[in-house]
Amino acid sequence: MSNDHGNTLGPVKIGILGLGTVGGGTVNVLQRNADEIARRAGRRIDIGIACARDLTRKRSCDTEGIQLVADPFVLVEDPQIQVVVELIGGESPAKDLVLKAIHHHKHVVTANKALIAVHGNEIFDAAQRHGVMVAFEAAVAGGISIIKAIREGLAGNRIESLAGIINGTGNYILTRMRDQGSAFGQALAEAQSLGYAEEDPTFDVEGIDAAHKLTILAAIAYGIPLQFDKVYTEGISAITVEDIKHAQELGYAVKHLGIAKRSDTGIELRVHPTLIPQRQIIASVDGVMNAVLVNGDAVGPTLHYGAGAGADPTASSIVADIVDVVRALTTDPTNRVPHLAFQADAISNIPVVQPDEFETAYFLSMEAIDRPGVLADVTRIFGQLQISIEAILQKEPINEETANVIILTQRTQEKYMNEAVTKLQQLEAILGPVKRIRVEHLNHLAT
Ligand code: NDP
Ligand code: HSE
Repeated sequence: MSNDHGNTLGPVKIGILGLGTVGGGTVNVLQRNADEIARRAGRRIDIGIACARDLTRKRSCDTEGIQLVADPFVLVEDPQIQVVVELIGGESPAKDLVLKAIHHHKHVVTANKALIAVHGNEIFDAAQRHGVMVAFEAAVAGGISIIKAIREGLAGNRIESLAGIINGTGNYILTRMRDQGSAFGQALAEAQSLGYAEEDPTFDVEGIDAAHKLTILAAIAYGIPLQFDKVYTEGISAITVEDIKHAQELGYAVKHLGIAKRSDTGIELRVHPTLIPQRQIIASVDGVMNAVLVNGDAVGPTLHYGAGAGADPTASSIVADIVDVVRALTTDPTNRVPHLAFQADAISNIPVVQPDEFETAYFLSMEAIDRPGVLADVTRIFGQLQISIEAILQKEPINEETANVIILTQRTQEKYMNEAVTKLQQLEAILGPVKRIRVEHLNHLAT
């Protein structure tokens, strides 16, 4: 294959760290589509070395002709390797491996959102100093090219808000609970067996994985540093089949969303279960599928949809990054697309909004003693705090004395809702904790 000057470009040798779900998928896609990929990249891409802990384990891919090593540092230090593809996951040893690769002037492609969200500022700084690329499309929303879309496709816009289903495991679990009435644990086990879940699945169900991804999306959308520790994070482990049913009766779907939004005081960064109207397209994004709704001031709302996890969809993003890196190998390092979309010296310090200042509507569910006057006491609390009620449902009795009461409120600041919940829980007729799930109509996110 020749370049523009008629020179023949030899193959690029890459090294793949990790041969699990994503590593195996990446080898398969690179081998299956080798000719098409070479025609796009301008030269062939050869997997020189791959690394896994257990070299005796049967793999989902064909490793014939690939040198296999168990020590990942051997791979990152090998002079024949130009691009290191990090698919081990976690912060350690991934951080040391990526920094070592950068110090050896190798480009890096990674699917590791934990690594980028927590250590990305340091990694990109090192990459900038060494003139190498660190590509991370697969770190957010698996097979959807959302990083490229925001960083390049929407570069002319001021991004107002984004909201996404950005964890495939969580969405799979919520879908199974809704459609099959599956128990939470059973649905999680299925997601694990399909290769969707993180090594520690609490990252998926407690919202940490989505918070990693939201950190990355917010950085490239607003030109702010990666600030994982400032994301308000709530998972789906407390959501029940009944919550999902009650939400449906009110015309809503329960989805786990990552939301980044400009407000008067800064940028809201939050990850939590959310009721969204069933008429919104994103409400019908089910199973392992992800979707990210991005509102730009010029383009308006755009919706980006695709598989959020799994071997081949994630490999699709990784291979696209490898092709991008290979195409840019000979370009001037100072003229490449900036890692975080904005030039490194133009990162802004817009504050991240405190949770007390978030403004959303709420779905509340509580067990109440079934006797006259209880609902009046409940509504009085909302009235005192200027919170408007949109709907109240008294559900089927839980037993002879108590019933489940569901309340849908209009938008209010989180600090007022905190006060309302405290007061509700102090009522003698309200038994146990009041459950709350935030409600977003999504059209508000653009304002
Ligand atoms: P797996 O657990 O399936 O694979 C991890 C691989 O890394 C295994 O081959 C393992 O070896 C190897 N490995 C782990 N530790 C070491 C070590 N210290 N030295 C050498 N090799 C090591 O993970 P996934 O493929 O699911 O995930 C990989 C990355 O991709 C993670 O960052 C994840 O967050 C991300 N990701 C995953 C997606 C998915 O759908 N699974 C989607 C998008 C991103 P061995 O096989 O011998 O144990
Ligand atoms: N565990 C992650 C998920 C993998 O389920 O979304 C994709 O990032």
